[in-house]
Amino acid sequence: MAIGVFDSGIGGLSIHRALVEAMPDADFLYLADQKNTPYGDKPGEAIVDLTRAGCETLFAAGASLVVLACNTASAVALRRLQSGWLAEYRRTSGRKVNVLGIIVPTIEAATGLPWEHAADRRGPKIEKLDVIGVFSTAATARSRVYEIEIDKRRDDLAVFTVACSGLADMIEQGAAREQMRDLIASYAQALKARIGRWPNRAILGCTHYEIVADLFREVLPEGTELISQPAPTAQALSDYIRRHPDYEIGHSGLRRFFTTGDPGAQPPLAEAFWGGPLRFEAV
Ligand code: DGL
Repeated sequence: MAIGVFDSGIGGLSIHRALVEAMPDADFLYLADQKNTPYGDKPGEAIVDLTRAGCETLFAAGASLVVLACNTASAVALRRLQSGWLAEYRRTSGRKVNVLGIIVPTIEAATGLPWEHAADRRGPKIEKLDVIGVFSTAATARSRVYEIEIDKRRDDLAVFTVACSGLADMIEQGAAREQMRDLIASYAQALKARIGRWPNRAILGCTHYEIVADLFREVLPEGTELISQPAPTAQALSDYIRRHPDYEIGHSGLRRFFTTGDPGAQPPLAEAFWGGPLRFEAV
């Protein structure tokens, strides 16, 4: 049995790399749904259906725990899958399996608070001074997950999200850096215009964006803290596995990469990010 990692494409490698670093002996299966990428411009029901299919593929390939290394799937599909389909899958297969997302560890990192924390609304009114900007896909922006979940926990943080349509696809296709930089700069300016100033901190709320985090750093004012998802997700998963030792996970250091799309070469920026050649198998 293994840990499954799922994304619409190569973006989830940003999370996968941190998981592998944190748990080098664990067996991992990665699935990129490249036949259907990008997810960010799809309707919610389609994202739920594709995410369910991805989890089924990973469970069938031997995963006991699946990490949705995709904000769009985590924001739009995770609760739906946990509330119905997952219980049914466990019942019919008789297997102990689970699906986890990446929003919870990101919110914990952004707020500095445990997920269970609720803001004390009875205190004096606080001026919202600390502004977090979120760069995400259109579907994640539409879900308003970062605004809602951060507001529940901290009333001194204001959150503004900008939907960066087309960016994940450009990264997936390995577009030229200047082209990606121009698009990122235009979304950063759009965010600044919405807020009326630059944010104090920013969340790269799409796992593809982490692969070009340096371009975000170039266009944002110097010193803007980027709240990164891979490290808190790796920490959260390690803690989860420690607390739930009954999930079967092999420790032979297995790494397999699957794609629903073309198993040929991945864009050089993906291999550069991963730090070596990536051989994907077709599913
Ligand atoms: N990498 C994904 C995310 O974190 C999805 C990008 C897409 O397929 O649009 O949202």
